[in-house]
Amino acid sequence: MLVLGIETSCDESSAALVRDGKEILSNVVASQIDLHREYGGIVPEIAARAHVEAIMPVLNEALASSDERPQLVAVTVGPGLVGSLVVGVSVAKGLAWSWGIPIVAVNHVEAHAYAAALEGKLPGYPFLALVVSGGHTLLAEVRDVDDMEILGQTMDDALGEAYDKVSKYLELGYPGGPVIDRMAQEGNAAAVKFPRPMIGSGDLNFSYSGLKTAVIRYTMKAGAGVPPMQDVVASFQAAALEVVVRKSLRAALDRGLAEVVLGGGVACNTELRSRLQAACKSEGLRLYCPPGALCTDNAAMVAALGFRLFSAGYRSGMEQDVYPNLRLGDPIPGNGRAG
Ligand code: KG4
Ligand code: ZN
Repeated sequence: MLVLGIETSCDESSAALVRDGKEILSNVVASQIDLHREYGGIVPEIAARAHVEAIMPVLNEALASSDERPQLVAVTVGPGLVGSLVVGVSVAKGLAWSWGIPIVAVNHVEAHAYAAALEGKLPGYPFLALVVSGGHTLLAEVRDVDDMEILGQTMDDALGEAYDKVSKYLELGYPGGPVIDRMAQEGNAAAVKFPRPMIGSGDLNFSYSGLKTAVIRYTMKAGAGVPPMQDVVASFQAAALEVVVRKSLRAALDRGLAEVVLGGGVACNTELRSRLQAACKSEGLRLYCPPGALCTDNAAMVAALGFRLFSAGYRSGMEQDVYPNLRLGDPIPGNGRAG
């Protein structure tokens, strides 16, 4: 089955053609990073308008990869920015209506956990998903396509948000994740001992707002005596990642989950990949990390999950709304199960 995926939840306009939930024919992503750079973060109204401009060229390019017409449209309906989500959902409805094909609604965070399927590497159920992005930091037990449970999540800032805000304060560039990833490789991660927030909390939740403040306070206080910036960001990263790796392992072992799937933009991070890989190996767990282009926001992951939901009987319709605060595991209103 040929599925058209559409993703516009944040600052990437994306369309993809994916066969049977795994074979990518096209995965076109138009990033708005340049538009938001001067603000050091995403401006919702600019994002919505940029989606309106970009979505048709992106769709045309994605559809050009096949002579065949898609048999299903899968679209992100939340969580995300309301004005951005509305663009993708409206276009999806228009296409589904004019082609007379079904539409299925997809949760963006859940889609990150299914990106591994595009490499044919999605493990069998149940598995542990770690989704780390600019908007989310969570651990979930995935038992089926429509049965998942959040085991822990951030109480304040997301991990990617902490990277972006630290980078913005230190004037290193936007988005901060890739910049800090590169700089930290040349730094001494033991130079500054930053706090490991909630590492001993006894639960699987996270907090990154205090760590971000600790980095900012430290650099303000140290003034001219601040160590090289590479050391500061390497130390920040070491603190941030130690918690996420420790809690991921604890989640997998507590729940008896032998397989771990990584997803979300921060999953591109070199240090996170290698630390998590080493930690999983030492406990006999298997880690699945999709390539970077499938970790950041893209429509192929939406098509991959949409195909599975459709196969499980889920269908949406022309009344489909958007849900900016949709949580992983929430049933999507309007996405009913046929039969
Ligand atoms: O999944 P994504 O594309 O969008 C959201 O759903 O949020 O993730 C974007 C986030 C940004 O915060 C960005 O700084 C972060 O992922 N990111 C990284 C890296 N590449 C992207 N963080 C750390 N290291 C990276 N290499
Ligand atoms: Zn995302």
